[in-house]
Amino acid sequence: MYYQIQGQGLSKLATQFGTPLFVYDAAKIIEKIESLKNAFSEIDLKIKYACKANTNISILKLMRLHGVEIDVVSPEELKIAKLAGFEPKQITFTPSGVDFEEIAFAVSEGVIINLDNLDVLAQFGQTFGNSVPCMIRIKPHVAAGGNPKIMTAQPDSKFGISIHQADQILEIVEQFNINVKGLHQHTGSDIKEATAFATAATAIYELAFRFNDLEIIDLGGGFKVAYKEGDITTDMTALGEVLTQKHKEFIQQYGREIQLWFEPGKYLVSECGTFLASANVVKQDPIKTFVGLNSGQNHLIRPMFYDAFHEIFNASNQDNSQQEMYNIVGYICETDTFGTDRMLNTVQKGDIIAIKNAGAYCYSMASNYNSRFRPAEVLVLNDVAHLIRKRETFEDIIKNQLEVDM
Ligand code: LLP
Repeated sequence: MYYQIQGQGLSKLATQFGTPLFVYDAAKIIEKIESLKNAFSEIDLKIKYACKANTNISILKLMRLHGVEIDVVSPEELKIAKLAGFEPKQITFTPSGVDFEEIAFAVSEGVIINLDNLDVLAQFGQTFGNSVPCMIRIKPHVAAGGNPKIMTAQPDSKFGISIHQADQILEIVEQFNINVKGLHQHTGSDIKEATAFATAATAIYELAFRFNDLEIIDLGGGFKVAYKEGDITTDMTALGEVLTQKHKEFIQQYGREIQLWFEPGKYLVSECGTFLASANVVKQDPIKTFVGLNSGQNHLIRPMFYDAFHEIFNASNQDNSQQEMYNIVGYICETDTFGTDRMLNTVQKGDIIAIKNAGAYCYSMASNYNSRFRPAEVLVLNDVAHLIRKRETFEDIIKNQLEVDM
């Protein structure tokens, strides 16, 4: 099959905008939003896009225009969300271990906050009493996720307030009469087992009965997407059925309407993204043949950091059935391997190599390591390719450096 994005050939995009280049398919994002909404159509669902996955302002705007709200983790993400047009009431701030000043800043912006530390909860109570609503992030002691680096709810995780500290949470809430509007949990990322979501949800719903004025249950993100054909993914329809039932039961017993929130990152944007890089070299070695790209871990670190599998193909040669085995590697002075022993249609120097699932945690985790520029980004919207971020220049690399007179 000839891989295109809304009729745009990848080689053509590479020629038009240069490489390395992130290309995002708006239609794919919209499709994911709709499938999530459909799976939870029977309840009051709010999707809070975890924008750490991809903070390009045009992506945020697209989300907003399709009824998605937003979860931010830093004052800077909060400001980007505002620039993208989100109202403070559509923004949730879910930081981890931040200084109280950041929390106070978010309060002053009118944004609801997820508090994840007993000490901070008490400080919040002392400072704001009952005047500012908040949410509490619970660690439900559920171990799930694609790998240990992206698990966030197991007993020894740094995130959230342990569910075993529920009594202490309630003491603090009562002491300061804190206005707790919601309970939150986020189990981890790349979770394929629907049971993990259900177990975590059960723990949160049980705890919720101990709070009087809840309006929100937030079950975080972490849905597993496909990285290759045949991958097990979160079955959204099945999950929708299980959690809808649980949520309805809870509402009935709790006696008031409650919104259900999710904060997906990958689910909404991973598959929309394709990363295009050029084959700088094809290096024949007695043991391996390497395809060396004009990119590296500075642009797409997931394979190196999480051993993540991203599908790779030769966008310049999609017809030739002749395949060869390659290691696809980066140009950084590290062993930055995108893929080992991959079968690709024969690669020649200058070919455009495409890496899939590049929409989430790729650009947003990119760096200037080796003093390289970060790539440009393009959004294909209604069949038109728009440049949504310029490639960096040497000025960007050097602008904050100050030279000492010696
Ligand atoms: N909510 C909270 C509180 C989170 O910490 C995260 C992700 C999400 C939602 C969204 O999770 P998602 O739906 O994207 O799985 N850089 C790693 C993933 C780290 C996720 C951090 N927190 C990766 O590339 O796999």
